[in-house]
Amino acid sequence: MTTPSAPGTESEMMFEPTSAEFARDRYAIYRRFREQDPVHWRSGRNGGGRWVLFRHADVSRALTDSAFGRQVAPPAGATAPASAPRPFPALSALISSWMIFRDHPEHDRMRNPVARAFTPSEVARLRTRAQTLVETVLDELETRADFDVVEDFACTLSLRMIAELIGLDGVDLRMLRAWSLALAVAIDAEPTPAALERAELAARELTGVVGLALERRRREPRGDLLSQLLAASGGEQGLDEHEIISNCILLVGAGHETTTSVIGFVVACLLAKPECFERLAAVPSARHAIIEECLRYESPVQFTARVVKSEVELGGRRLVPGQQVDLGLGSANRDPEVFAEPERLDLERKPGEHLAFGGGRHFCLGAPLARMEAAVALEAIARRGRRWQRVEPNLTWRPAIAFRALERLVVRRG
Ligand code: HEM
Repeated sequence: MTTPSAPGTESEMMFEPTSAEFARDRYAIYRRFREQDPVHWRSGRNGGGRWVLFRHADVSRALTDSAFGRQVAPPAGATAPASAPRPFPALSALISSWMIFRDHPEHDRMRNPVARAFTPSEVARLRTRAQTLVETVLDELETRADFDVVEDFACTLSLRMIAELIGLDGVDLRMLRAWSLALAVAIDAEPTPAALERAELAARELTGVVGLALERRRREPRGDLLSQLLAASGGEQGLDEHEIISNCILLVGAGHETTTSVIGFVVACLLAKPECFERLAAVPSARHAIIEECLRYESPVQFTARVVKSEVELGGRRLVPGQQVDLGLGSANRDPEVFAEPERLDLERKPGEHLAFGGGRHFCLGAPLARMEAAVALEAIARRGRRWQRVEPNLTWRPAIAFRALERLVVRRG
């Protein structure tokens, strides 16, 4: 028998991702919900509420079943009805044109022209550039007594790669990073009004800067993504100028925050298990397993969201159209139904069906690029990072809910 949906169905258990307990050990909380209330109704403070899914099977289903759509309310200001004054106009305009918030067929129209830059063969072509960049960044860091693997290495690498690929190479990368972080905080679960204010400013500035780059490419086309999207623009299927700018901004954020996160955690694991350096030297294919296990174990995107399009039953619950659903990717990737001993980080684990890149129509567009960058970074660190030592004994994570990333990983040469 299914439980009736919506208010009144909440269990005794409360999912509180803003709590200190969640910040301390989110995985223990996921485990409890997977076992006791895997399709959880989370009541909102001002009425309403949303479902939260914790099991791999349910999250997978929501990613792939057409009963679930992607037109999910973006953050506060962006959700105001069209007739209401919009407190965050630049942020609303930006986010509402992101492919990630669109459903088929609009989603295909936006994704297809962008996807051409991220096919495995295009990404293979970028590998040499990534290798050069990695060596350059590491050479630059050689002069420093210590440095932060997250900001100085992983972020510099992934941001330069995506900026070049788009055609933003003239843009100040530090500013690009600051604006992207401001947007990431605003699209995280439960953003504060101050975070939304900062994101509004970032959205305005980013839209201006990417717009200028677009104008430059209109006058002087090159082989980059902006030039390609401009060439394919217009007509019924092409993206308009605002859509090109918005989706390139999505790529900047999506393309470096998450990749930075996985590279940072991979390096932390290597430093904690120095025997991996030997294994990497002896078995080059070990790289792949290490990266996939790190993606599973500390998934950079812990939650994404969907909206129910048509009535559907899940875990004995009835979900009805219009209800919002949070998909716990980070929890799904620790589900013992799919992964043996899921709470153990096993760098030799055979890669399985992790959902770190999502699934279905919105499967991460940049997955081949992220995997290639992580592999190139790991290859170089296996050669050059043996004597790195962590300066702080404990790992510090960013205080985010939907995103998971190390705040920093400072190392010095031993
Ligand atoms: C380790 C790195 C990465 C992780 C863990 C990751 C994770 C994800 C996830 C979970 C989704 C699906 C969201 C959903 O279905 O709601 C997604 C979508 C997306 N990702 Fe990534 N991503 C990574 C790297 C990248 C890179 C390098 C790029 C671009 C250069 C990128 C661009 C995108 C885009 C554009 C989408 C939206 C696709 C669509 O809506 O069709 N990602 N990513």
